[in-house]
Parts: sequence; C-alpha cells; structure tokens
Amino acid sequence: MEHSGNGRKAAHDVHPEERRDGISKGLTNYGDRGFSLFLRKAFIKGAGYTDRALERPVIGITNTGSAFNPCHGNMPQLIEAVKRGILMAGGLPMDFPTISVHEAFSQPTSMYLRNLMSMDTEEMLRAQPMDAVVLIGGCDKTVPAQLMGAASVGLPAVQLVTGSMLTGSHRGEQVGACTDCRRYWGRFRAGEIDETEVADVNDQLVASVGTCSVAGTASTMACIAEALGMTVPGCATPPAVTADRIRVAERSGQVAVEMARAGLTLDKVLTARNFENAMRVLLAMGGSTNGIVHLAAIAGRMGYTLDLHALDAMSRSTPVLLDLKPSGDHYMEDFHAAGGMASLLHELRPLLHLDALTVTGRTLGEELDAAGPRFSQNVVRPLERPIYPQGGIAVLHGNLAPGGAIIKQSAADARLMEHEGRAVVFENIQDLADRIDDPDLDVEADDVLVLKNIGPKGAAMPEAGYLPIPRKLAAAGVKDMLRISDGRMSGTAFGTIVLHVTPEAAVGGPLAWVQSGDRIRISVAGRRIDWLVSDEELRRRQAASPVDVPQAPRGYQRLFLSSVTQADRGVDFDFLMAAESKGSIPRS
Ligand code: FES
Repeated sequence: MEHSGNGRKAAHDVHPEERRDGISKGLTNYGDRGFSLFLRKAFIKGAGYTDRALERPVIGITNTGSAFNPCHGNMPQLIEAVKRGILMAGGLPMDFPTISVHEAFSQPTSMYLRNLMSMDTEEMLRAQPMDAVVLIGGCDKTVPAQLMGAASVGLPAVQLVTGSMLTGSHRGEQVGACTDCRRYWGRFRAGEIDETEVADVNDQLVASVGTCSVAGTASTMACIAEALGMTVPGCATPPAVTADRIRVAERSGQVAVEMARAGLTLDKVLTARNFENAMRVLLAMGGSTNGIVHLAAIAGRMGYTLDLHALDAMSRSTPVLLDLKPSGDHYMEDFHAAGGMASLLHELRPLLHLDALTVTGRTLGEELDAAGPRFSQNVVRPLERPIYPQGGIAVLHGNLAPGGAIIKQSAADARLMEHEGRAVVFENIQDLADRIDDPDLDVEADDVLVLKNIGPKGAAMPEAGYLPIPRKLAAAGVKDMLRISDGRMSGTAFGTIVLHVTPEAAVGGPLAWVQSGDRIRISVAGRRIDWLVSDEELRRRQAASPVDVPQAPRGYQRLFLSSVTQADRGVDFDFLMAAESKGSIPRS
C-alpha cells in the first residue's frame, strides 16, 4: 500500500466515504453519506472531471469579477494564473463567484455591502468542499470583507489583490485616482479650470483596470494584508496589468496547496502580533483612515478588540516613511519600482514582530531575509528621515467623541491642527448638498464645518466626511477648513478632517446636539476634541429633541440597522464577531 510522505495513507488509498477532505468534505445532508458523495461526484463528473482529479486537495478561488467592478478587471488573468499555481503544486482549483463591491457603483455606500460580502464569503467557504482558498479582492471593501469572512471560517487562506491601476497623463502632468480626482474637482468648483478641461482629465485619471493608484483604502488594505502575513511576499504592489502581478497570482495558488497540506489554518496567522505588524504598516504608510475600521472588524472576527488609546501610542512611535499621495508625492507603481513592501518592512524592522507567521509557513523575518538586496530609491524613507515624524493617524478624545475620533494628521494642514472655531452645522448629507454652495451661507474660513448623521446607522457610513469647501470660500482661495463628522472619507482624500466620531449622532452621540454657532476646539498634539458647551446645556438640548434611532421594516437593511456596531468595533455586525474574547490590541 502506498503512503504519503507523512506516514498517512495516500488519498487514493482511503475509501472516498471515509475522507473528510477534498471533494468529500462537508457533504450535503441527505441522511446517507455514501449517497451524498455519490451524487456530488456524479454532478462534478458532468463537468468532465475524472476520479484521479477529484482525489487532489481542492483549492477554492473566489471570483469577484464584475462588469460593475473595473478595479477587478484583470480577474480572468489572475484566476488563470492561480489555477496554474494550484495545478503545479498538485491541487485541484475550483473557482466560484461571490459578491463584488466597487466604491463608485454601490448605493447607498460600499460600506453597507461590506458585511454582506463577508457573510457571502464566509458561508461559501463553509458550504463548499475546499481544503484552502485563494481570496481575490482589490477594491476597497472587498479585501476586508474577504479577510473577515475567512477569519471566521479559519480555513487555510491566501489573500491575492488585483493590483493598482496605471497612472495617466493630463497635459503633461502624471495623474491617478483618486487624489487627483478630488484635486481637479476642487479646482473645477473653484472656477480654476473649465468644463472642457475637467472632461479631458476624466479620461486620464483611471488609465487601466486595477485599484486606485495612491495610498487609498485599496492600497492600504493590500499593504495591510501583506503585513498581516496573509499574502505571499511582494503581493501588495505590482500593478494590475504587469507580469509581476501574474507571477504573484501563480505563487498564491502554490502556497494555498502547501497550506492545505500543512494544515496551516488562519488562527496561526491572524495572531495579535500579526495585527500589530499590520497597524505599524498602516501608520507608517500614511494609510487610509478606513484601514482602522477594517482592521478592527477583521481583528474582531478573531476575538481581539482594537484599543484606540494604545493605537494612538503606537502612532506616536511610528513615523510615516512612505512617500505616496495623498500624504506624499508618489503613486503605487513608483512604490513597486522602489522595492514594494520589502523596502518598507526592512525600514520598519526594529518596530515589527519578526517572528509572526505568514501564509508561506515562514515568519515575516525569514521572508525579509530572503527578499532581494536593498537599493537606493526615493519612495520609502529611512526611519531617521521620515515624511512625517509620527504615524499618519491620530486618535482624538473629548466630550464631542467619548468613544474616540480620528484624524489623518499626515494629510492635514498644520495651521488647523490646533484650532478653535465656530460650528457651521449640516444635519445630514441632503442638508449639506442643499446649502453648502448657498451664497448666503453664513460661513468663514476659520469656521468648523460639522456634518451629522453619516455614521454606521445614520447613513451606512459614506465617505462624505470630506466636506467640500463652500464654493464662495473656495473661489476666494480657501483650500482647507477643519471638518468634523461621524462618517468616513476616502483614503485618497486630504485635509484637516476629523472622522468616525463615536458614538455617532444617529444613536445619540453628543454630535447629535451640536448647533451652528457653538464653539469647537481641537488639539491634535493634545489628542483632544472639545465642544465648548456645558453639560447642563447638553442635557437641555437632549430633553428638547430626543434622537430617533433609524430602523427598517425588512430585508438586509433591517439586519444592518439592528446589528451594525460603531466605528471603534469595525462597523461589523455584532453577531459576526468572535464569541470568545482574546483581549485588546495593540499590546505593544
Ligand atoms: Fe476601487 Fe479605488 S475605486 S480601489
């Protein structure tokens, strides 16, 4: 009798009904195990598979291609390469569809659908027979959704990202989504460019399929996934249309087979130390503020609670090293040419847990030792010459945000980071749209723009925290103002913008009772956000206008509104978080 190298019987020597892996895994329940397997094999043979092929480890591949998702436009090529890698390693590739979510094609918001995608991913990973899976995502919410779902299942899993888009050229200037989308739109609003030019640049901002080309949420999550140890080395940065991206896909397939054979489940990869490495990278890359929300959600699936105070302490000792827009000057393709994540991780070495395990079965330190030689480049700065002396994100607390709020200090105006001003309040997104450009709006450059009711329950947390500068001030040359909301903003945006105010207005957070004319003070150095209104006045306003928490009569919206958590818990559904607590992170 043949045996496998580990002393166990070879797969083909075990009666198919005795097996609990491969195609025999998770049989449909007909009350007759033998019949269930017989039926399954009959159906899959209808697709032309042989018994020999069906003896192999089954490796799932999530297909998130969609005509509505150009960020995943290279999905066919990636799936082909992943399959090649799986076959080379002796596995059987099986691709299957899940929901795909694109930022600009998701109404009301992509955040509304992230948890649905995570549930779809989780349940399909559980329901279908696979020994490991390659998760292919890219656009902002897809990678978090996949990592959340996979974390809950625990199956061996490799994250593969679609890769960044190429940059374009507009009248001699390099441009890319979406920092330049905002910059050009701001110039158009201010009357600096005309309709012809804004239409011209619209053709150039997204020069190929792939994800946004700056340190937006997609790039941030790609780098976080690699820092977590959830990707093969070098996965984060190759642009979508390059040979490097295809090679990474092939390698991801190989590694998934190796993980299945080794029984390398995600509880060994998604540890507190891996999450801490991911947080360091988020802070050091001047990454998207959304990265905090998504990391909190992924960590919550593993039983960890994000400690915002400890994260802020970590931020104080983690300088921004990556010179990428919007905090810096470069694009993802430049980062890749500069060595990609290996260059950044080498610089961060003293701050990382090098013993954290990765999907390859080797530690982060071992993978860094194996990475190619370092070379001179101008995208990743050395620790002693950072872009910004602290981490990109600071956490604020105070009577306006008892549960915390955040600001991307590396992309803010230093002049406004210690500031007190008069509040100009918008009750919701519609109110903002109706009045922000009103020539009679009572607003001045030193005022504080406040937008309420765009938190998780208020409006499914849209990226509307980047309030536009009122047109009359923009036309007068005002480029930045202090802006505060309970919503999010795109990682591609910049400005002095306080986000994720917790608790949100819609559930009765103090923000609900801020009125125009109140005074608000922030001190980023002191990590404070204070609303200069007495407790007595707050109680009077609360009694006069109690909050009506949003509800829905049916469907997914009902589930969302009844179960969604606040920003500090990742905006996940409460029933999807791990039942057992492993404590808070970061711990160091
Ligand atoms: Fe998909 Fe930016 S819109 S990554």
